[in-house]
Amino acid sequence: MTIERPTEAALDRAAALLARGELVGMPTETVYGLAANATDPAAVAKVFTAKGRPAVNPLIVHVADASRLAEAVAWPLTPTLRSQLDALAAFWPGPLTLVLPRAASIPDAVTAGRPTVAVRVPDHPVAVGLLARCPFPLAAPSANRSNYVSPTRAEHVADGLGHAVAMILDGGPCEHGIESTIVALGGPDGARLLRPGAVPAEAIRDRLGGVLHVENVPDVTPTADEGDPPSDPSRPAEFSPPHVTPGNTTAMEAPGMMGRHYAPRTPLRILGPDGPKGDRSRCGRLAFTPIPDSERSRYAAVRILSPTGDLHEVASGLFAAIRDLDHSGLDAIDVDACPESGLGRAIMDRLRRAATKE
Ligand code: TXA
Ligand code: MG
Repeated sequence: MTIERPTEAALDRAAALLARGELVGMPTETVYGLAANATDPAAVAKVFTAKGRPAVNPLIVHVADASRLAEAVAWPLTPTLRSQLDALAAFWPGPLTLVLPRAASIPDAVTAGRPTVAVRVPDHPVAVGLLARCPFPLAAPSANRSNYVSPTRAEHVADGLGHAVAMILDGGPCEHGIESTIVALGGPDGARLLRPGAVPAEAIRDRLGGVLHVENVPDVTPTADEGDPPSDPSRPAEFSPPHVTPGNTTAMEAPGMMGRHYAPRTPLRILGPDGPKGDRSRCGRLAFTPIPDSERSRYAAVRILSPTGDLHEVASGLFAAIRDLDHSGLDAIDVDACPESGLGRAIMDRLRRAATKE
């Protein structure tokens, strides 16, 4: 395995490796992906083995641009799907994944036998350069061992999956640092949010004329106070649990979104409004915004994700900081919470899963 700068020659070699059924670590604007030829069941099987991923959890397929969608999606679309897709095409290239009927060329291994496929057009020059060189789409889950923290740097891919990839393309740190938003199109009552992500659910709902169903993630229907951010940004955010209905159908439809996920080995605890309690001298603190020295000095290690509490900065540095603290021999990690709207919905979703005990 080599970590390579994404020169034209390296991209050519990566495309050739993929055509031979090898796996490549691929940077995207969200997180690094573990890429395989999506039309090659043997290559796709290597992805599941490398990640230790249950075969029932389907993969996201990446295409170079929307004009190549028919390589993954059954074509033509019904008029309903077509109009929903047209409404959301504004987010491509970008961190939005759409679940649509799958093309016959996409094997069962990718979709876990489902009639649908999750597909997106990434917005990263290296991913697009690689996809453009491949005469097939690329299946790429996040390039981490199953249930561990997603990778946002080339070194993170090498850490967990170095043994399984032929090459890692180094695209530098990922811009968003949090995975794509997943939306299932169609359905009797409209589109459904399956995973909150880097595109805020509110923006998707607006593009869909106000209709976006949400079941296994906190509701995106605006509430009286949602339009009004807290006046004091240093005020600790409320932490509200998600509305999860056990066994609900949406959770079944997004099989990778259940339970513990994104989890460091060190126990992670989301701080409530009262802040940290007890002896924290062997603990780490992951803060969204600077904290007072009196609080800082209680911890063995402190990471500040943004000088101003900007949620884009928080998301982009979040997974790298969790990995870093996870390797620091701490007893526990205390992390901030933020309001569950916009990007905050995806950040809190990841933190709750990371904090879930097995
Ligand atoms: O930002 C991202 O989406 C990254 C980059 C690499 O593109 N990829 C990513 O893949 O996050 P992964 O495998 O870590 O998450 C894929 C999620 C899983 O929760 C899976 O269950 C869901 O997508 N999924 C895939 N195909 C699906 C389908 N046909 N129906 C419903 N959910 C699906
Ligand atoms: Mg993942």
